[in-house]
Amino acid sequence: MRFDYPEGATPIDDISGLIPDWVRTQEDLNLVEAENISQAVRKYLTGRISLPHKWFTVSFLKQIHYDMLGEVWDWAGNFRVTNTIPGVTSYRIRSDLESLCAEVLFWSSDAVELTLIEQAARIHHQLVFIHPFPNGNGRFSRIVADRFLKALQLSSPQWPPDLGGDSQHRKSYISALKNADKGDLGSLVSFMEKHGAKDPPLSQILGSSFFKKLYQGKKLELLQKAYVRRGYDV
Ligand SMILES: Nc1ncnc2c1ncn2[C@@H]1O[C@H](COP(=O)(O)OP(=O)(O)O)[C@@H](O)[C@H]1O
Ligand SMILES: [Mg+2]
Repeated sequence: MRFDYPEGATPIDDISGLIPDWVRTQEDLNLVEAENISQAVRKYLTGRISLPHKWFTVSFLKQIHYDMLGEVWDWAGNFRVTNTIPGVTSYRIRSDLESLCAEVLFWSSDAVELTLIEQAARIHHQLVFIHPFPNGNGRFSRIVADRFLKALQLSSPQWPPDLGGDSQHRKSYISALKNADKGDLGSLVSFMEKHGAKDPPLSQILGSSFFKKLYQGKKLELLQKAYVRRGYDV
């Protein structure tokens, strides 16, 4: 059996934990993973999604990963126990995820000078940076960012399907993630915008009953500040 991995993909040097016994090639594996993930996409990205502070918890994130790959890999939904690049030291995974969950909770309760796309980009980058699972972290982190945006009634980016391959899209995506490693989220935000993510215009924040409830007082003030920083019409 041959498994090929593009630059930057987590190499799987063993196939222990592979559940379907008929998988023989990378193509078989891609197919069976994609089928499993499409069920998770239906479950987590369609229908009404509650606000992020209601579901953004470590156990829910593990459940999402389990539902994405649990029919294919027996380690789905379990944190990795070996170190990877990218990825934090494995014993820090839980606490780093807890910090991220606390941060997301804070964004909903307190004022923060970040637009919603910036928040989604931060979530996406932090999740791939932590790299909680043995594999599937890129796909998982994109689904979580999408769910975050959809919970806020925004369209999520159409992530190019060739991000797993050796494509130009992947090159600019990885380079955006590397900039985010250095603290600059700008190119990841631009990448997401280029592929269809969009912050709501201020008129929508001020005019729709959904956003009016979320943004008042200091929260609205800091959001406006973030809009000015990004050069949006305010
Ligand atoms: N050099 C890098 N710096 C930061 N993140 C990276 C880098 N290389 C890969 N990644 C992230 O890790 C993901 C690959 O990890 P992996 O666990 O194999 O996920 P998947 O199997 O879904 O592709 C990429 O999609 C990207 O999100
Ligand atoms: Mg991978």
